[in-house]
Amino acid sequence: MSDVIVEVSGLRKAFGTLEVLKGIDMSVRRGEVVCIIGPSGSGKSTLLRCVNLLEEPNAGTVVVNGFEMTDPDVDIDRARRGIGMVFQAFNLFGHLSVLENLTVAQRKVLKRDRDEAERIAMRNLEKVGLAEKAGSMPAQLSGGQQQRAAIARALAMDPAVMLFDEPTSALDPELVGDVLTVMRQLAEEGMTMLVVTHEMQFAREVADKVLFMDGGVVVEEGQAAQVIGEPRHERTRSFLARVLNPVHAGE
Ligand SMILES: Nc1ncnc2c1ncn2[C@@H]1O[C@H](COP(=O)(O)OP(=O)(O)OP(=O)(O)O)[C@@H](O)[C@H]1O
Ligand SMILES: [Mg+2]
Repeated sequence: MSDVIVEVSGLRKAFGTLEVLKGIDMSVRRGEVVCIIGPSGSGKSTLLRCVNLLEEPNAGTVVVNGFEMTDPDVDIDRARRGIGMVFQAFNLFGHLSVLENLTVAQRKVLKRDRDEAERIAMRNLEKVGLAEKAGSMPAQLSGGQQQRAAIARALAMDPAVMLFDEPTSALDPELVGDVLTVMRQLAEEGMTMLVVTHEMQFAREVADKVLFMDGGVVVEEGQAAQVIGEPRHERTRSFLARVLNPVHAGE
C-alpha cells in the first residue's frame, strides 16, 4: 500500500471562462493532516470537490487511496467509499433519526447487517460525544451536534481519508470548540485529513502541513508553524493579517 493517500497533479478547473484552479499539485500522506487556507473565492472548495470528483477537472490527475479518480473507467462509487466528506452545512437526512443517518449507507453501500451497522454507529456516536442523541431527529440537535453527527456518519464508513470543507464556519461561536475537539481527536488517532478551514489556531496546532491558496494556485505550503507564523509570501502575510486581526484590517 502506498503511503500517499491523496495525490493531486496539474489540476485545472474552469467554470465557463472563469479559471478557478490553475494547476494545483498537492498530496496528503497516510496519517497526515493537511489544512488549506486562503481567501474567499480562491478555489478551496472546488479543489476538495475535485478530490472526490463532485466536480470534474479539466486537466490533471487525482489519485485517492489507489483509485485514479480522473480515469474515465474508474469505479467511482467504489472509489468514493474511501472518502469521508463533511461540508459547511450539516447535511443529515432530516426525516431519519441520528442513528438511522449513521446506518443507512453502511447497510446500503457496505452491506452491513442491522446489528453490525448499529454497533459501528454507536461506537462512532460515542466518539463524537453523541451516544445519548442516537434516537433524536436532526432538527432536535444544535448545529454543533449535527455537525458532529455528520462526522460520525462519515467515520462509520471506515474512510481512508476525511475531507472537511469549513466544517465550523456555519456554527455559532460557542459550538465551534466541540467540533474542533472531535477533529483534533481524530487527528491524534491518526486519521488522514484534508481540511479547508479559517480556524488558524486549529491549523497551527493540528496540521502537519498548511497550504495557502490564492487565485487558483498554491502560493505557499509548508509546516503549519512556518506558513502561519512566518509566511514567506506577501500574499500569505496580508491574508493572515486580515484573518488574525480583522478589526484592524483596514488601518
Ligand atoms: N458551480 C460553479 N459554477 C460557476 N462558478 C463556480 C462554481 N463553483 C464555484 N465557482 C466559482 O469558483 C470560484 C472559487 O470558488 P470556491 O467555492 O472554490 O472558493 P472558496 O475558496 O471555497 O471560497 P470560500 O472561502 O468563500 O468558500 C468562485 O469565484 C466561485 O464563484
Ligand atoms: Mg469554500
